[in-house]
Amino acid sequence: MDQAETLRKIKKERIKKRGVSMKKIAITSGKGGVGKTNVVINLAIALQRRKKKITIFDADLGLANIDILLGLTPKYNIVNLISDNLPIEKIMVDGPEGIKIIPASSGIQEITNLDPYQEERLVQELSNIEKFTDILLIDTAAGISDLVLSFLMSSEEIILVTNSEPTSIVDAYAVVKVVSKYDMEKPISVVVNSVKTQEEGEKVYNQLKNAVDRFIGREINLLGFLPYDKAVVEAVKMQRAVTEAFPESEISRAFSNLSRIVLNKLTWRKSEENNAETWKKMLNFNESEK
Ligand SMILES: Nc1ncnc2c1ncn2[C@@H]1O[C@H](COP(=O)(O)OP(=O)(O)OP(=O)(O)O)[C@@H](O)[C@H]1O
Ligand SMILES: [Mg+2]
Repeated sequence: MDQAETLRKIKKERIKKRGVSMKKIAITSGKGGVGKTNVVINLAIALQRRKKKITIFDADLGLANIDILLGLTPKYNIVNLISDNLPIEKIMVDGPEGIKIIPASSGIQEITNLDPYQEERLVQELSNIEKFTDILLIDTAAGISDLVLSFLMSSEEIILVTNSEPTSIVDAYAVVKVVSKYDMEKPISVVVNSVKTQEEGEKVYNQLKNAVDRFIGREINLLGFLPYDKAVVEAVKMQRAVTEAFPESEISRAFSNLSRIVLNKLTWRKSEENNAETWKKMLNFNESEK
């Protein structure tokens, strides 16, 4: 048995024992700067508040910013894992409210092009975090490099973030197109960020959905809308997560709702596949907390 085969066997046995498997969700966008990293951090906190164990993987390997947005200064990062063979446990740091973070590095270009051996090692080390993680949120770089694509392909779910700018919508469409070239079934859920009204969010989603229906012919889902909120800008300046610094803000409530939808969606996929009615019920942006 080769090493990869042995690892697959170990993983299968571990899953059998625990009865569950870690879910991997990649958060991505076509255009940069649309709010991915803020979605990852705040969704992580909101999910953690719902008693899920969350690990964030900063997969924006060339331009790390999870640690900067949270005011953390990790001693090691993913480079030490890849180049110095440090185990994943050694490079991880604790974020707010118990979330765990696997930091990337900034400005080190060579690791954006991993050789096949390094990529394999990265995937193996990531599988070790299953022991203490229910959901792994992967913050990817913008755009569709091979590395980003490999993270999207190795996740069970893709959350595609866009805002209302036409360039951002067009670039989101390009992501759907490239993903579909490799996998027409990979679930893609859309978050429209920085909207002023729910109507604005609906308009953006429908534009994207119509183009995808017409030219690609695959399914995408709406996960939700996130309002434009100055609290985000304030929190970024404070290097804190908005859900932690301003828990009563509109955006923090929206993240709480979004986390509920994400959890419902994950269990729903397992138990009632393709039940459109159940899905619709979950998509209520303004629905208050129960
Ligand atoms: N809902 C929001 N309301 C107000 N401002 C926002 C919101 N979401 C994001 N922003 C602003 O957009 C900026 C960029 O967000 P963020 O860093 O999360 O984007 P990104 O998609 O991760 O960018 P990159 O592609 O560079 O990684 C934030 O610093 C913040 O100022
Ligand atoms: Mg980012």
